[in-house]
Amino acid sequence: MKLLVIGSGGREHALAWRLAKTPGLQRIFVAPGNAGTARERELENVNITDPRALADFAEQEHVLLTVVGPEAPLADGIVNLFRARGLRIFGPTKEAAQLESSKDFAKRFMARHNIPTARFATFAERASAHAYIDRHGAPIVIKADGLAAGKGVVVAMSLKEAHAAIDTMLPEKCVAGPGGTTVARVVIEEYLEGEEASFIVMVDGKNVLPLASSQDHKRIGDGDTGPNTGGMGAYSPAPVVTPEVHARTMREIILPTVRGMAADGIPYTGFLYAGLMISKDGAVRTVEFNCRLGDPETQPIMMRLKSDLLTLLEHAVAGRLNEVEASWDRRVALGVVLAAANYPGKPRTGDRITGLPKGSDDSHVFHAGTTDTDGLVLTSGGRVLCVTTLGDNIKQAQKLAYDTIVGIHFDGMQYRHDIGHRALSR
Ligand code: AMP
Ligand code: GLY
Repeated sequence: MKLLVIGSGGREHALAWRLAKTPGLQRIFVAPGNAGTARERELENVNITDPRALADFAEQEHVLLTVVGPEAPLADGIVNLFRARGLRIFGPTKEAAQLESSKDFAKRFMARHNIPTARFATFAERASAHAYIDRHGAPIVIKADGLAAGKGVVVAMSLKEAHAAIDTMLPEKCVAGPGGTTVARVVIEEYLEGEEASFIVMVDGKNVLPLASSQDHKRIGDGDTGPNTGGMGAYSPAPVVTPEVHARTMREIILPTVRGMAADGIPYTGFLYAGLMISKDGAVRTVEFNCRLGDPETQPIMMRLKSDLLTLLEHAVAGRLNEVEASWDRRVALGVVLAAANYPGKPRTGDRITGLPKGSDDSHVFHAGTTDTDGLVLTSGGRVLCVTTLGDNIKQAQKLAYDTIVGIHFDGMQYRHDIGHRALSR
């Protein structure tokens, strides 16, 4: 029995590591993987990233099931391609992945199906965007859509910042795209106040299986300061997701989304990640959808998963998620990301990593931006490692993580010293 995990980050290392515990498994391929997956006994890296070549590989190796980690191949239609060739794969189709790949699609979808989110408007033209901002005032949130994506999200606390963001994200004159569309657009959103949490579920088109709740730390600096990153650490469970918040999220966000996608003729399959904003009175709103697992949230979530992951995935691919439940370690899991010099700017790479500990039952170092070069482990990306631990409470998990980090070294290594602070202060 062989499986294939697509991706090369900490999320994929954690997924493959958990899958490797499946009884009776022969091999898990990770494409392309990293130095961490290369060093796990049950895992084997394959240096393929082209979707067609991946499908050829899955066919030749008689891979039972493929799981996709990152959003880019999903948005490019890797699930459509595998399915068309009769290959089993877990993830959303290209059409369904628009919940993440197009903010405009996601916002219109939520408006149509009454899913709570920030009020919004979409603009392709600078003058009307500026006028809208003047009408609504600050704080206000500006998000790039379409080909302007990648220039990100600006949470503008002043009108000046908001106007500047428009000028950065939109060209002076609209550029026409195919079919009467415009090439660059912005979504302007109402500013939401509250605490964020990550709510990730598995979906089979109709049924939903929620994973354990989690929370990540998006800013680079201690105390949640400085620029946004992909995530500098995470933990599970998230105390802010109380049973009431959980029930409301399922009822008001997750189930209407899954039903709405099916009703719109784009059934959703795969992991679905709702970024929540939870206000003081317990109301939940959707900040964003991702069509995949979170990174680094997956690392602590996989540390806590006690059920057999392959069983869950097989039920998901067969449209039978209603027949299974997931069980979780009662302990808290916490992951601290060790990042390279200059991250979240262009990271320095090629630094040698030393002092990597052996994994144990309550601690594992998941790799992300690492490569194996002549037996040395070198940094090769912004987020390099995620030191992930289990503890009876958040404090113990945190202590074990930071004690483990003491032995690990690479030049320029930077990390946050306060991962878990929100859970600790509750
Ligand atoms: P996104 O890429 O949509 O997840 O946005 C990145 C980050 O910007 C989020 O994790 C939030 O911290 C913040 N953000 C996005 N939208 C809003 C909003 N409407 N109100 C407040 N903060 C937001
Ligand atoms: N940690 C946030 C994300 O995966 O998008």
